[in-house]
Amino acid sequence: MALEDLQALERDHLVPTYARHPVEFVRGEGTRLFDEQGNEYLDFLAGISVVQLGHSHPAWVEAVTDQVARLAHVGNLYYSEPGIRLAQRLADLSLGGKVFFTNSGAEANECAIKLARRHRAHGDIVVVEGGFHGRTMGALSATPQEAKQAPFAPLVPGFKVVGRGDPQALRDAVDERTAAVLLEPIQGESGIHPLSGEMLRAAREAADAAGALLIFDEVQCGMGRTGAMWAFEQEGVRPDVMTLAKGLGGGLPIGACVTSPDYGDVLQPGDHGSTFAGGPIVCAGANAVLDVIGEPGFLASVRAKGEVLRSGLERLGLEGVRGQGLMVAFRHEDAPAAARSLLLDQRLVVNATGPDTIRLLPPLTVSAAEIEDALERLGSAAP
Ligand SMILES: Cc1ncc(COP(=O)(O)O)c(C=O)c1O
Repeated sequence: MALEDLQALERDHLVPTYARHPVEFVRGEGTRLFDEQGNEYLDFLAGISVVQLGHSHPAWVEAVTDQVARLAHVGNLYYSEPGIRLAQRLADLSLGGKVFFTNSGAEANECAIKLARRHRAHGDIVVVEGGFHGRTMGALSATPQEAKQAPFAPLVPGFKVVGRGDPQALRDAVDERTAAVLLEPIQGESGIHPLSGEMLRAAREAADAAGALLIFDEVQCGMGRTGAMWAFEQEGVRPDVMTLAKGLGGGLPIGACVTSPDYGDVLQPGDHGSTFAGGPIVCAGANAVLDVIGEPGFLASVRAKGEVLRSGLERLGLEGVRGQGLMVAFRHEDAPAAARSLLLDQRLVVNATGPDTIRLLPPLTVSAAEIEDALERLGSAAP
C-alpha cells in the first residue's frame, strides 16, 4: 500500500496520539531499516531502546519462531518454562529476589507502585522532576510533567516531587509516611539526564532511614544500554525494586518488576495479575536477548562503542553531549526539524526529546563502522 494511502487510513481510523514521520518501514536487519521503496536507513533509535540486538538478530529470531511454533499462550494458571527460567536469570543478574512480569514499562511501574503501597499502606511515593514512568494512571501520576498530567486529573494521590539536582529536598521529602522513592537513574524521555551519584546515595540513605523502598525505573537505561547490565551499577547504589521493559524483549512487549530478596513476597496471591504477561513467546525472546548480552566482552564493547560515539559527536562540534554507553544525547536549537531532516535527507533514524535535544539509542550490536557512518550523516546537523 502506498504511503499516502496509509496516511489517509491513519487519519480516518487511528486515534491521533502520535505524530508520525512520513516513512513506512517494511524490513529490518541489524542496524539497518528499509522502507517500502527499498531505501536503506541507519537505525540509531532502535524503537526507543527496544531492539537491543538490532533487527532480526538470528539467535532471537530462532528462539521466538521455535517457541511460537510449539506454544504461544497458556496463561498464568499453569507452568511454562521460558518465563520461570527468565525470572531466575533476571533475579540472579540483578537484585536476587523475585520477578513479576508485565507487558510494558508503564505496567512494570504500576506493579512497583502497588508493591510500595502494600509495603506501607497509604504511603507517599517520592518522584523526581523530569522523570517519566509511563502513561497509565499510576505511572502518569508518578510522571511530574504538567502537560502530560493536567488533562487527566484527578490523578492517583500520594506522589511528591523533588528537584532533579536537589539531594537535600529528597532527604526532606522522605519520612515514616513514605512508601517509596521512585526514580530513573538516567532520565531518558526528558533528554538523557543522569542523576548524580549524590542524588542516588541520598535516595538510598533516606529510604533506609525511613523504612521506605528505593525503586529504580530502568525501563530505558537497563539491559546493557549504558555499558553495564544495569545503570545502577555505575554509581554502586542498589535499589530494592527495579522495573524493566523496552530492551528486555528485544522487540516483543515484555516488562518486569524485579525485587530484592526482602521484598519478593510483599505482593500476595490475588494482589496483582495480567492475562498475557510472562507468556512463552516474549520470554523466549527475552532469554535470547540475555544470552547475547551475557556473552563475554559484550558489555565492554558497548562501553567502547559509546566512547567512539560520544567523542565523535564532540569532534563534530555538537554541544551538550551527554549520556552513558549507547544512551547519548546532544543539544540542537531546533531538534524536531533536525531529526526530521536526518531521517528524510540523511536516512538516519534519531529522535528529538523536546525542542532542543537529539537522542541516540542505537542497537547494542551496532558496529564501529556504522557509528562512523552515522557520525558522517550527523555532520549535516552540526552547527
Ligand atoms: C524510563 C521509562 N519508564 C517507563 C516507560 C513506559 O514504558 P511503556 O511505554 O512500555 O509503557 C518509558 C517509556 O518511554 C520509560 O522510558
